[in-house]
Amino acid sequence: MTLTAPSTTMRHPAPTFSFTTPQEKRSFVQRLFTNIAPRYDWFNRLASCGLDGSWRRAAVRRGTVESGQTVLDVCAGTGDLALLCAARQAGQGTVIGLDMNPAMLSYAQRKQQRRHLRVGWLQSDAQTLPFADGRFDRVLIGFSTRNLSDLMSGLREMIRVVRPGGQLIILEMGRPANPVLRVAYQTFLFTVVRVVGLLLTGQLWPFTYLARSVRGFLTPQEMIERLQSLKTTVEYVPLSHGLVSLYLVTKT
Ligand SMILES: C[S@@+](CC[C@H](N)C(=O)[O-])C[C@H]1O[C@@H](n2cnc3c(N)ncnc32)[C@H](O)[C@@H]1O
Repeated sequence: MTLTAPSTTMRHPAPTFSFTTPQEKRSFVQRLFTNIAPRYDWFNRLASCGLDGSWRRAAVRRGTVESGQTVLDVCAGTGDLALLCAARQAGQGTVIGLDMNPAMLSYAQRKQQRRHLRVGWLQSDAQTLPFADGRFDRVLIGFSTRNLSDLMSGLREMIRVVRPGGQLIILEMGRPANPVLRVAYQTFLFTVVRVVGLLLTGQLWPFTYLARSVRGFLTPQEMIERLQSLKTTVEYVPLSHGLVSLYLVTKT
């Protein structure tokens, strides 16, 4: 990887974000979220102009997360999706939030304690889930498929732990079909979003990575094809005119 490792105490020139192995990308992503964990929620609210909560609520509602279900939030980060699921279940069901980053999970746990909701937190890797086949009614992953070091092995693993007939619910930054909106969105990511990130954290490189990872990620059609190759049926729901993609993936 042609990347100079950033530390929390030193400034470095912008890295180039080219990874030669999945392990390099994993270490980079781990360092990135350790760096921005204290400001992650603020960044989300400001960079999405307050819309991120409505996208998560749409995912939980459209994915029919309900009382009594067993739910796994993969790459749970600071826990917003898992906490929404727990609130919706009102104590009737099981929610587990899994993430590889202890700093992100510590913020999730604090929010959970403040809100008196029931969620179990687990530090683990999305690509080797420590659960039996078909264990969950719903598996969610929010704004994180881009960050997986091996997307297909992550998707395969998440589908493995969903029960037949259950759903994998994927929220991801989108690619608007309208070309004018698409260009405006990319420009917004590379300008406003990076400045917001810089002001909040004093660092630019995590937000340059974010913008580039969105630009370089799969189109909705490519994502659908990959999911269908894993023996699933897929409903694609563009949110906010395609700024965000919601995939409702049913295991057959
Ligand atoms: C952009 S945050 C998303 C957090 C949350 N889902 C949300 O909706 O805000 C990405 C999260 O994915 C986690 N992550 C990335 N790769 C992972 C992996 N292989 N296994 C577990 N967690 C991973 C990171 O640690 C980070 O907390």
